[in-house]
Amino acid sequence: MPTLSLAPASAADYRLRAEKRLPRFLFDYLDGGAYAELTLRRNVADLEAIELRQRILRDVSTLTTEKSFLGNVLTMPLALSPVGLSGMMARRGEAAAAKVAGEFGIPYCLSTLSICSVEEVAAATKGPLWFQLYMIRDRGSVADLIARARAAKASALVLTVDLPVVGTRYRDVRNTMSGGGGAWARLRRGLLSYMMHPGWSLDVGLRGGPHVLANVAPYVANATTPADFSAWANASLDPTVSWKDIEWVKSQWGGPLIIKGILDHEDALEAVNCGADGIVVSNHGGRQLDGVASSIRALPPIAEAVAGKTLIIMDGGIRSGQDMLKALASGADLTMMGRPWVYALAGGGERGLAHLLSAIKGELSVSMALTGITRVTDASPDILSPAHSAA
Ligand code: GLV
Repeated sequence: MPTLSLAPASAADYRLRAEKRLPRFLFDYLDGGAYAELTLRRNVADLEAIELRQRILRDVSTLTTEKSFLGNVLTMPLALSPVGLSGMMARRGEAAAAKVAGEFGIPYCLSTLSICSVEEVAAATKGPLWFQLYMIRDRGSVADLIARARAAKASALVLTVDLPVVGTRYRDVRNTMSGGGGAWARLRRGLLSYMMHPGWSLDVGLRGGPHVLANVAPYVANATTPADFSAWANASLDPTVSWKDIEWVKSQWGGPLIIKGILDHEDALEAVNCGADGIVVSNHGGRQLDGVASSIRALPPIAEAVAGKTLIIMDGGIRSGQDMLKALASGADLTMMGRPWVYALAGGGERGLAHLLSAIKGELSVSMALTGITRVTDASPDILSPAHSAA
């Protein structure tokens, strides 16, 4: 069990640090999932249940975790997932994370619902920047967002398709995240919570503003608080979106398009038919349809259906280098990780995130050596124990 000891070693350690530092409603927004959080837990548990196959006496003195992806050579096959509101978790959080990811040599994917604008984030990083897009009802705003992402030199557009409606997160309801609850709730969520977390309050609350959703602010009238923006987002997400809208997005964007939020092999084939350059196997970190399969369980049939036809990324439950290797061995070309990078940034700042990425790369290298492979691109089902693989 991780504890708050002298130095953090793992993603779980940074989670504890983030929990201590953040006001409760922010930590819960980040840490929680939809409804009973079954899928959130399965994402992690199903990865844990996979056994790796230890192999011995193969020269593993020279190892490489590098992998080419969409024209970039990445230090390791990982990208930072888009996480809404991360600029509330750490000071100018999205710009800080993009900077660290760029220095490390992996892509950072900026959420539509971020505190820092795509322009601010682009100025902070030299690494690959991806832009995550939600379809909102007003297509003029969507076209404008796409044009801004292109002008900011984002190198891939990641269209999230698993949020036509929003799954209820019980923790957010309990914390009155979207307002309501009366004066006492407001006081506990606001002033009292800030007084109990002075480090966050000074660094992020006072010095980290403005706290608006800067990407969408130009299209939202009269919003000043995160609750106003979240009410706008809930009302503006477009539940009419269908496969025929993909063509329009592609024509507006004109660059590599990745479709995020696929759990079914038939949808994966449809994405290939629509010309997606990549897909993200994801259940939105267990934040949408509770009770649906974990990402690692959904991955093998999807890989069987579309491997070689589009790039396959797996997001959901990745907490370590071992998890990355299991996902790559199960058919992913790349992995994405959400909550852990935010825990590290919230709990340890830029240094914390840089440390977590090095630690994960170390875990990946050791796991490769002990499964007997020297190139990460050689990860295959052969390094998984057949009785316990997710397939
Ligand atoms: C938004 O994408 C969320 O999951 O909160």
